[in-house]
Amino acid sequence: PHNHAILVRGSILHFLADPGEADSADSWQYFEDGALLIEDGKVVACNHWQQVLASLPALTRTTARTYDYSGKLILPGLVDTHVHYPQMQVMGSFGRQLLDWLEHYTFPAEASFADRKIAERTSAFFLDRLLAHGTTTASVFATVHPHSVDAFFEAAQARNLRMLCGKVMMDRHCPENLRDTPQSALADSQKLIERWHGKDRLRYTVTPRFAPTSTPEQLTVAGELFTGFPDMHLQSHLSENRREIEWVSELFPGHRNYLDVYDHYKLLGRGAIYGHGIHLDAAERARLAETQTAIAFCPTSNLFLGSGFFHHDAAHAASMPVGLATDVGGGTSLSMLRTMAAAYTVSQVQHQPLSPWRALYLATLGGAHALSLDKFIGNFQIGKEGDFAVFDYKAIPELEWRVSHAKGIEEKLFALITLGDERCVAATHILGKPATPTSASREMSQ
Ligand code: GUN
Ligand code: ZN
Repeated sequence: PHNHAILVRGSILHFLADPGEADSADSWQYFEDGALLIEDGKVVACNHWQQVLASLPALTRTTARTYDYSGKLILPGLVDTHVHYPQMQVMGSFGRQLLDWLEHYTFPAEASFADRKIAERTSAFFLDRLLAHGTTTASVFATVHPHSVDAFFEAAQARNLRMLCGKVMMDRHCPENLRDTPQSALADSQKLIERWHGKDRLRYTVTPRFAPTSTPEQLTVAGELFTGFPDMHLQSHLSENRREIEWVSELFPGHRNYLDVYDHYKLLGRGAIYGHGIHLDAAERARLAETQTAIAFCPTSNLFLGSGFFHHDAAHAASMPVGLATDVGGGTSLSMLRTMAAAYTVSQVQHQPLSPWRALYLATLGGAHALSLDKFIGNFQIGKEGDFAVFDYKAIPELEWRVSHAKGIEEKLFALITLGDERCVAATHILGKPATPTSASREMSQ
């Protein structure tokens, strides 16, 4: 019997498709007084409250656990398509751009993960903070140390989360104590794939840091791992910073462009996602679309590190898969609401304002699609996994004031994006159940 049915009431918004430029109204569903019914962790119904209630067997109605979030907004769990958990300790570090920032802040922080205890404590803290921000799935960089992936996946498994993570591969142009080799990267990644890929809700992602820190031999290994396992994921970085791009052209002469380096080593395709992609040309955009390789748009990081403005409109026009990402610790917040607001700011600089529909699509179904996880998560279609976040417009006085003057749902959503943040997250549910912070991370944050 379905004695684990979970019935949720509130204003529900989710996407069925990309709303595109036209923001076509059949790409999303909004139920002002909505119901979400979850059984055995999966969505069984999503509709108007009265409609779901009427079709509910009496037994389910009496035994279901009910959560009443009336007046609050329920969205599918938010998806952060690119984030580095070991960099929590260097968020908000002053005065450097990408390459100096890596050398001065990031590499020393990642070196501290040689201590497995640090990896364990950071994993617990990071995941509980993600949940506090309404984010339920992320594509996560660990460090070069294989145990940094074990620690992360153990913490994610304990919380029943759908997560991607991989061991960073880097065998040159980094400190000695963070360096692997093509052979060790292959052996370590294979072991981690066998241990974790497809276990519960966890999936492995092959993680060469970026072209400058891998030899051609190691990029070859990355290509073998990515193409050698079914439904494998891959994450890296692309065209973030001008000096980085120049460096790549020196290190890999004879390639048409930066993307062509990754293309040459068989690192493009469905399941692959690259952070940034700011300074792309038309040929690179076309090739990303053709291969269905995704870009993670990381606006707070791009502004904070002075990297530049991602061309969202050009990416969209080229039909590239795009997700939204915090890129902590280059990024300045784990909040996908703040990230959407930064994405809007960047789009305004280019006179192509990002609509609230498209922003919320990118943070949910679009992100799931960019990570090739849309068969599991991203919206409330029947059979999808029941991860969701609840947002309270009344948690911030300015937001409550603005929303009380809003002319419709579109204005309310846009106000939430621009004025809201993690204070608005009233609850986060995983497979229907409320997530509660673990004792470990409560100690950490005290
Ligand atoms: N490029 C290579 N590594 C990194 C990293 O850790 N963060 C960012 N933002 N860019 C990178
Ligand atoms: Zn990154």
